[in-house]
Amino acid sequence: MALSFHAVRSVPKAAKASISLVTSDAVDDGSAGPPADQLKTAGFEGKPGQTHTWPAGGRVHAVVGVGPTDALTTDGLRRAGASIARGFGRHARIGVALPGSELDGRAARQALAEGIRLGSYKFLTYKSEGKAPKLARVDVAGGSGARNQAALDLGLAVADAQALARDLVNEPGGTLTAPEFARRAAAMGRKAGLTVKVWDEAAIKKGKLGGLLGVNRGSDLPPRLVELTYNPKGKAKGTLALVGKGIVFDAGGLSIKTGQGMMTMKCDMGGGAAVVGAMSVMSTIAPACRVRAYVPMTDNMLGGDATRPGDVLKIRNGKTIEVLNTDAEGRLILADGLSLASEAKPDAIVDLATLTGACMVALGPKIAGVMSNNDDWVSQIRAASDATGERVWHLPLPEDYKKQFESPVADMKNIGTPYGGALTAGLILQEFVGEGIPWAHIDIAGPAWSDAEDADITKGGTGFGVRLLADLAANFTAP
Ligand code: BES
Ligand code: MN
Ligand code: ZN
Repeated sequence: MALSFHAVRSVPKAAKASISLVTSDAVDDGSAGPPADQLKTAGFEGKPGQTHTWPAGGRVHAVVGVGPTDALTTDGLRRAGASIARGFGRHARIGVALPGSELDGRAARQALAEGIRLGSYKFLTYKSEGKAPKLARVDVAGGSGARNQAALDLGLAVADAQALARDLVNEPGGTLTAPEFARRAAAMGRKAGLTVKVWDEAAIKKGKLGGLLGVNRGSDLPPRLVELTYNPKGKAKGTLALVGKGIVFDAGGLSIKTGQGMMTMKCDMGGGAAVVGAMSVMSTIAPACRVRAYVPMTDNMLGGDATRPGDVLKIRNGKTIEVLNTDAEGRLILADGLSLASEAKPDAIVDLATLTGACMVALGPKIAGVMSNNDDWVSQIRAASDATGERVWHLPLPEDYKKQFESPVADMKNIGTPYGGALTAGLILQEFVGEGIPWAHIDIAGPAWSDAEDADITKGGTGFGVRLLADLAANFTAP
């Protein structure tokens, strides 16, 4: 979809809908536009998401509520933008006026543009009669300056990157196989001016990525590992490494899932999709640091020579793992990914993975769990989370829980005891992070997928993590 945003002084006549975002305070003091008594009669109080429309001069006029001025956040504007997209996306051209607030004008414009783009997202590849929203042009009133325009353009670029991640997640596992995921990631990387390296099966064997090979063993299709690198112009201010889980479909392997449990498992490359999405916008954001991304890719199937419970795998960094549950496969491929990322000695690593049902039990469907070996690195992640509205919660990595995955035959088992599964998974990943490297693991099993529409979130793949990673890279300082 070709959507564009334009910073303008006031909403032009050519806009088919003229929409004002208004606070409830503006409704109360009569400055919302229409007279207060008229809005009262219509039942419009300026609550978040409330909309009131009326025709005038051959077009639609509307007020969309954003709640009290002192409670207004960029997240609220992103949500309001999404409700504008849903309510007025049938028009080719609309105009939007921002509410009066203390928010930074650029952050406000970026969030509004993100919300409008994300709220108009649709995955129509397999719909015979799917209708894309007509919306092509949004004039944002309140100032036509270059800085306002840049903020709108940035919001659109970041949301486009998130939409790319959604497309990748929504593509069925039988279509977005590991080779196909790698092709798309590589094509994006070349287009976006990144350095691209695709490891095929021979390279993966030669590189001794035993975790990725072990998970792939039950599949008829080969694995891949994609490396994407963004190099800043001039001397890089440090290196950030991103690692994303790229299980294109998780059947569980021989420790097979239930039919119900498999229904959404095309989302198991949501971490990899977020990493690829974030990398697609690096050249636009132009962070001062170098960014290296690693995405190991395979499905987790049950072929006749699939990894059996009890099999031992040797990971890239030399450590061995006894696989007692083949459905705990994410940590096996991430073990190789983290080993590889560590070899390049980055200043920090962050991995994103739809890793455990346990993290969903702990934090529900919308909040990701963060585990880390470095508190300063967690602070940067929390700052990125606050700035982007992608919510995270800090969970511990208790040293004494490591006993849970001691193995009688190998360096470790791939599972712990039934409780605290998000933490054992995090502790196992930590075994593959190079000595002294600040690292954080973000378990996105909940927020990578949504069963319901909610403001900027659409059903299916959410693209969670793209905004957070983009912001993290933009503000990176070695922890
Ligand atoms: N991909 C799943 C985790 C998952 C579950 C993601 C639900 C999104 C929604 C992961 O590979 C998995 O199967 N984890 C197991 C680990 C267990 C066997 C230790 C789990 O959470 O049950
Ligand atoms: Mn699994
Ligand atoms: Zn999985």
